[in-house]
Amino acid sequence: MCNIEAYIFDLDGVVVDTAKYHYLAWKRLAAEFEYHFTQEDNEQFKGVSRMDCLNILSKMIGRSFEEREKIELADRKNDWYIEYIKNMGKDEVLPGFVEFITEIRKAGGKTALASASKNAALVLERLELGRYFHAVVDGNAVNKSKPDPQVFLLAADRLGVAKEKCLVFEDAQAGIDAAKHARMYTVGIGRQENPLRGADIMKPGFEGLSPEQLLGELDFPDTPEVCNV
Ligand code: BG6
Ligand code: MG
Repeated sequence: MCNIEAYIFDLDGVVVDTAKYHYLAWKRLAAEFEYHFTQEDNEQFKGVSRMDCLNILSKMIGRSFEEREKIELADRKNDWYIEYIKNMGKDEVLPGFVEFITEIRKAGGKTALASASKNAALVLERLELGRYFHAVVDGNAVNKSKPDPQVFLLAADRLGVAKEKCLVFEDAQAGIDAAKHARMYTVGIGRQENPLRGADIMKPGFEGLSPEQLLGELDFPDTPEVCNV
């Protein structure tokens, strides 16, 4: 039986639905190249760093850009994204999250945020959530994008908890793969009918969920599986 000591949360799509704002900003950029960017396209962008997203987009639209142009395009997308999120308030925190993390902390659990986003601090500030995390690792602290495990390993390190005692909450396939590469247990956030490959359990969200109930439902193998992607 595994003893979970730390709970590591992705931000976009787990704590708050910022995926819709990322989508709108990429769609606006794609439209400049007469490309109709769909929700399905956006799935490939979840959990992926800004520059990696731009590289995927350039393939989708069939264009290649010089480094200078890439930076300019990524900055433009980010300016729009910031414009969309700047009016966000704490009412946009996904239902049940505050209750869930509060319960973890009351029981002495450690909590971290591990996000690919370079805007994580801004989002946490808008949502007034900073005080709920013992550690925050964002896109500014890492140089390798999910599915690389770096962001989760750094979070565990900052919490001082062994990776085998960490439980990761993720809504993106790249994020589940990253956590599995880190040999951590995973909760996939999303629809049961559309499971994330390799997630130890799927949950639609935090509403009505208690950490105790979740741990009871997880059937922990002795060592977390490493995914073979
Ligand atoms: C991730 C999102 O959390 O952060 C991705 O799921 C996004 O869609 C990535 O591209 C980088 O975000 P930002 O805010 O640094 O552009
Ligand atoms: Mg996410």
